[in-house]
Amino acid sequence: MIKDLWYKNAVIYNLAVGTFMDADGDGIGDFQGLQRRLDYLHGLGVTCLWLGPFQPSPMKDDGYDIADYYNVDPRYGTLGDFVEFSHACKQRGIRLIIDLVINHTSDQHPWFQAARRDPNSKYRNWYVWSDKKPSNADEGMVFPGVQKTTWTWDKEAEAYYFHRFYEFQPDLNTSNPEVQAELLKVMGFWIELGVSGFRMDAVPFIISTKGPDVKKPKEQFDMLRMFREFVQWRCGDAMILAEANVLPDTDLEYFGDDGDRMHMVFNFQVNQNLFYAMAAADTRPLVKALKATKPRPATAQWGQFLRNHDELDLGRLDDEQRKRVFEVFGPDKDMQLYDRGIRRRLAPMLHGDRRRLELAYSLLFTLPGTPVIRYGDEIGMGDDLSLPERNCARTPMQWSDEPHGGFTKSDKPILPVISGGVFGYERINAARQRRDPAALLNWTERMIRMRKECPEIGWGDFEILPTGSPAVLAMRYDWKNNSVVIIHNLDDKPKEIALAVGGVGESDRLVNLLTEDHSDPGDDGKHHLVIEAYGYRWYREGGLDYLLRRTES
Ligand code: NOJ
Repeated sequence: MIKDLWYKNAVIYNLAVGTFMDADGDGIGDFQGLQRRLDYLHGLGVTCLWLGPFQPSPMKDDGYDIADYYNVDPRYGTLGDFVEFSHACKQRGIRLIIDLVINHTSDQHPWFQAARRDPNSKYRNWYVWSDKKPSNADEGMVFPGVQKTTWTWDKEAEAYYFHRFYEFQPDLNTSNPEVQAELLKVMGFWIELGVSGFRMDAVPFIISTKGPDVKKPKEQFDMLRMFREFVQWRCGDAMILAEANVLPDTDLEYFGDDGDRMHMVFNFQVNQNLFYAMAAADTRPLVKALKATKPRPATAQWGQFLRNHDELDLGRLDDEQRKRVFEVFGPDKDMQLYDRGIRRRLAPMLHGDRRRLELAYSLLFTLPGTPVIRYGDEIGMGDDLSLPERNCARTPMQWSDEPHGGFTKSDKPILPVISGGVFGYERINAARQRRDPAALLNWTERMIRMRKECPEIGWGDFEILPTGSPAVLAMRYDWKNNSVVIIHNLDDKPKEIALAVGGVGESDRLVNLLTEDHSDPGDDGKHHLVIEAYGYRWYREGGLDYLLRRTES
């Protein structure tokens, strides 16, 4: 296992324990089930798992409402099962990161219960209170349309409490040093049980000033350095991946000028522009987003993704662009959510079209940074729009054509498994795809293998190469005397391009990494290529001796 900056060339796979695999037959996925599926994940080639929250929780927000930071929800198993599982990951060289939900707790957390009961409790000041309803109580809701306010009256406390998210998720007073000390203890606990880091939930809100008099919240960036130092003191190569949907000019604050804050941040800017690019076959705004998020400290890394467990947030696009993405990928009202996004999974958005799925995945694997895959996308799973809010894209993994997709032996799965139609488990399941070399699952496995052999993408610098067509994106990555050139045609028509690749090694040939279709430059020194509709090419510059030239990180 490569130590230190391992996240630079990782492939991260996100899953929720409760919907992955049920071993004890109660209808809810658990750690023992997940452990039995580790060889599947190992075979797929992913190098790091990101687990959604699995601590005890009333589950009103899919576990993002934690009632005990130091335990495993009994539905999923025991702490013992967790340690067995984290050990099993280690044995296979798979890293484990877990969600760290510390902006808020559940209202059922004993800290909040004590705080609301007794104004003199030491926990009172762990939350954010106000005697009067603050004038901005109806602003800043994260779930507009579903969430009514950010300040709710608590009868027992006889005060209003602040909650950036739902009313059952009271915000922790994260500026309080006692709270900070406890949160570090939480991190230390899970590091001791074998995790390599955290996906830190809602980072801009964790570090923001909170209180009834706060009109313009300020971000306290020094807190990020404190978190980073702590995890690295406890475990030298631990990593934090921040969920921070912020503008390109502020994201540098999250990495820190010297790379001393977050190791990784999700690139929401690129994500939204990528969907626009796919909807409109126009890569110009995407190129702008790539350039705007390009200069980053050497140890920092972007997390790139297509879909995740939340809605596809389009809030950063302009009105016209957003309209276009809605029209193409989420035209019906019930496909949309919170006035800003689309709640569908990737495959139905792309009408299950294999060419477009491959294009989307090929883009994901070749964007600057580390790809983060959502469970089930490797087999092209669909969604169930009859389920409320974001649950539509959180249905159980489809393993086989056995009842309930082989996810559980129970007749009451935690969420219904998608059945019937194009995306039902009878047609879309891992067992069936494993037997078919041409299936999406096996294609994904081959792409992951190739992505890992292209460390230039994770480590190197990129340059956008002019293609003369807004529908065609060409990028060149350079790292340690090696280069790859990656081309995508986002249009439904073939495109002819003449590509000047730049300084080439010993040979001018572009070696195709995925097929035998290599390219030699014409007399004008350019590569004349016809890229088929939704086509993608991964080339390596200068011949096949790259393996000899490659030096390890
Ligand atoms: C972001 C998570 O991704 C989302 O699922 C959750 O509802 C909120 N944070 C609140 O924790």
